[in-house]
Amino acid sequence: MKVLLFNGSPNLNGCTYNALKVVKESLEKNGIEGEIIQVGTKVIRDCIGCRTCKKTHRCIFNDDIVNELIEKCKSADGFVFGSPVYYAHPTGMIISLMNRLFYAGGDALKGKVASSIVCLRRAGGTASIDVLNKYFSINEMVIASSSYWNVVYGPTKEKMILDEEGIQTMTHLGENMAYLIKSLNSSKEKKPNHETIIRTNFNR
Ligand SMILES: Cc1cc2nc3c(=O)[nH]c(=O)nc-3n(C[C@H](O)[C@H](O)[C@H](O)COP(=O)(O)O)c2cc1C
Repeated sequence: MKVLLFNGSPNLNGCTYNALKVVKESLEKNGIEGEIIQVGTKVIRDCIGCRTCKKTHRCIFNDDIVNELIEKCKSADGFVFGSPVYYAHPTGMIISLMNRLFYAGGDALKGKVASSIVCLRRAGGTASIDVLNKYFSINEMVIASSSYWNVVYGPTKEKMILDEEGIQTMTHLGENMAYLIKSLNSSKEKKPNHETIIRTNFNR
């Protein structure tokens, strides 16, 4: 059983990376493999709304990591999307990734366990988490929570160590995710098989 942890920070060894590392270590202590994937330093295109992926289930662009990640998500059991807070929002890189990953490859994540974490200096944490969690709640995913909102205060990895509660929140998140993934995997219940989804535009 495996969790992919996406780092949407351009800092390879900053707060977000280290917060994700705490979640990964906690998952691993509880029998779930973790892999941190660096996203924030890569060039990731925005979605151009061409809707080609609705037929192909792949993004039309092959010059970045999105299609590769769609394939990787198929065999994963859970996902953590991490980002620093930029102007009270997640970074553009993680948003660009998630728009295309979910629009083209949402089936690879559907029904699985997901969570998000953010790192920040002072404000905008829960607003950023709300943005990230919306991808999960429109894709029938099981959202793992922790003992507080999934926020760790930096602004640097050295200062982050001082946020004991934030770090503990990451540890608890890993424990809760491991519990949920193992529970879902051992369940004899089948996922609901929905009737065809009715799609109406707001203005018909
Ligand atoms: C462009 C930019 C915008 C930022 N906006 C915010 C903000 O709105 N609120 C906040 O608390 N911190 C803000 N920060 C600080 C970062 O969120 C903070 O330093 C974070 O811990 C960095 O994480 P990292 O080390 O993983 O990159 C901003 C930083 C940058 C570079």
